[in-house]
Amino acid sequence: MRTWFITGTSSGFGRQMTELLLERGDRVAATLRNPVRLDDLAARHGDRLWRAELDVTDTAHMRKVVDSAFAELGRIDVVVSNAGYGLIGLAEELTDEQIQRQIDTNVIAPIQLARAVTPHLRAQGGGNLLQTSSMGGHIAFPAMSLYHTSKWGIEGFFEAYAVETEPFGIHTTLIEPGMVATDFYGAADITPSTLPAYAGTQAADFTHGKNSVPLEAMPGDPRKVAEAMIRIGDLKEPPRRQLLGSDAYSLVHDALTARLESAEAQREIAFSTDRDDFTPPSE
Ligand SMILES: NC(=O)c1ccc[n+]([C@@H]2O[C@H](COP(=O)([O-])OP(=O)(O)OC[C@H]3O[C@@H](n4cnc5c(N)ncnc54)[C@H](OP(=O)(O)O)[C@@H]3O)[C@@H](O)[C@H]2O)c1
Repeated sequence: MRTWFITGTSSGFGRQMTELLLERGDRVAATLRNPVRLDDLAARHGDRLWRAELDVTDTAHMRKVVDSAFAELGRIDVVVSNAGYGLIGLAEELTDEQIQRQIDTNVIAPIQLARAVTPHLRAQGGGNLLQTSSMGGHIAFPAMSLYHTSKWGIEGFFEAYAVETEPFGIHTTLIEPGMVATDFYGAADITPSTLPAYAGTQAADFTHGKNSVPLEAMPGDPRKVAEAMIRIGDLKEPPRRQLLGSDAYSLVHDALTARLESAEAQREIAFSTDRDDFTPPSE
């Protein structure tokens, strides 16, 4: 029996993972803002479900919850930093509070969770940490600038954190799904554009629901995403990143190819700014 710690287990990937893991006999420390939402699973699975109320933006409380989970459950094999939401609106039209909440939830909270679990994982000789990022951590759509900021931001944090903690047996994977019809889209904080200057632009139209992909046309299957996340959490040597969904694969593949072509086109000017007495290592 393996033990998992998961944030944001009330719905979507977090809930699906919790259900699947309990069904296969694992133990889950499930955290969520409203623990009664897991009453049905508690009734079915008893002690194998450990629950704690947690709003991930409350860092002090998150540290306490993490400490009690490790104290009460002993070893935790996999930590899944999953809680998050989408903010949709034009950068100019969002409020300061909306921006702060997006960054607090999708960037600061995962960073603080990683920091909180690190000493415990190190003390037990390692463990896996899955962070839900998104294909939106590599690409960006207008009207989602702050969501992309959050996912690109957390990608940067884990790029460095992974190397810092690998010597302790901590393996980090950024989970990068494409579009999956969970509660994500219903729960998104959407500000329809009202500034006349943006009227008719692609970005403003998107905030009014035009050109958005209907739930039934989204490629991802929430259960299959949860199954894939479990498969990765089980691996001894998990990948640093995992795209999920044919949309994620194709869009990120195309974007990275274009960025590589762009980097190659910049070579001459990039090299032109080196000191005259500097020899690049590859030359
Ligand atoms: N669905 C997609 O297409 C998609 C694609 C790429 C990445 N993702 C990422 O996958 C993750 C999970 O999303 P999902 O698709 O499963 O959506 P979801 O069904 O809306 O689930 C999001 C979960 O995060 C929780 N949450 C949000 N803010 C929180 C906070 N401050 N404290 C604690 N919990 C909080 C929600 O809890 P409440 O019920 O309390 O609100 C809910 O349990 C997110 O990080 C999202 O960015 C989703």
